[in-house]
Amino acid sequence: PQVTFSDDNSSVRAVLPTGESVTVLLHGATITSWTDASGSEKLWLSSSAHLDGSKPVRGGIPLVFPVFGTAPDHAQTASLAQHGFARSSRWEFLGKSTSESASGDGAADLSAKLDFGLSAAGLSEEAKGKWSFAFNLIYSVTLNRGSLTTSLVVTNDDEKAWDCQVLLHTYLRVKDINEVEVHGLDGAQYVDKVDGAKTKSQSGAVKITGETDRVYTPVANGPVTVAEGGKKTFTVTRDNLSNVVVWNPWTDKAAGMGDFSPKDGFKNMLCIEPGSVSGWQSLEPGDAYEGAQTITYHS
Ligand code: BG6
Repeated sequence: PQVTFSDDNSSVRAVLPTGESVTVLLHGATITSWTDASGSEKLWLSSSAHLDGSKPVRGGIPLVFPVFGTAPDHAQTASLAQHGFARSSRWEFLGKSTSESASGDGAADLSAKLDFGLSAAGLSEEAKGKWSFAFNLIYSVTLNRGSLTTSLVVTNDDEKAWDCQVLLHTYLRVKDINEVEVHGLDGAQYVDKVDGAKTKSQSGAVKITGETDRVYTPVANGPVTVAEGGKKTFTVTRDNLSNVVVWNPWTDKAAGMGDFSPKDGFKNMLCIEPGSVSGWQSLEPGDAYEGAQTITYHS
């Protein structure tokens, strides 16, 4: 048994011999699908998402770089579009690889890795006009049985220093948002973007009962878990990403987004977004920064 890879002009897909799969759109290096062995989808993707490169993708895992939201007071990124240009640029597919690890029953488990790249030469004229620094991004997507790892390496190829923010904007698929609890954020400070950007402190599990948009700084680098109806469904671990954004648009915000469908789809998604966004990563010429997430599902 082997991993099956396929690619066309717009996306790359890997399927493990056991059936797990991942699909990555070259537009934004956006992961648009991640399934388990039975074909059940783990990510939420809007049915009216633009997959043709005309807009960032609503759903899956878009990449945020070099600015989270907008930063009007930060000169280098002040004129960039919301969440930067990585999610709206066409990335290059750099290559694929397979590796083996021993599984419990003695047979080898295969994993598949897909690598994508973006540098200044790949930007639109519009993005080049707003961000003139030389940079290189390598995004690696690794599909294992039961988990997905996505890792971004940012390199400063310029002669000047520059700052950036990075975030992995994961839209997890859930059965019923009313049954969801997010664990692992107890005691964390967060900026509440739906309450005047006030800083607050989390006590206990996070429940989603209305529009939620929070930038957490967890006290430790432990896992964040999602439970549904008291049963753990996802574990998200972070490497070198000190923030976790928790976002759900709820009714009104979903209604206002032209690319959010179905309109009650907010009941079936929750964004858990590992990132480095509460400050800036300052990169001197030649410096690199790497951040990663691993999402494991429990069935
Ligand atoms: C989240 C932000 O990461 O992304 C929210 O915290 C924002 O404020 C959301 O609304 C979606 O952003 P966009 O640009 O994809 O609509």
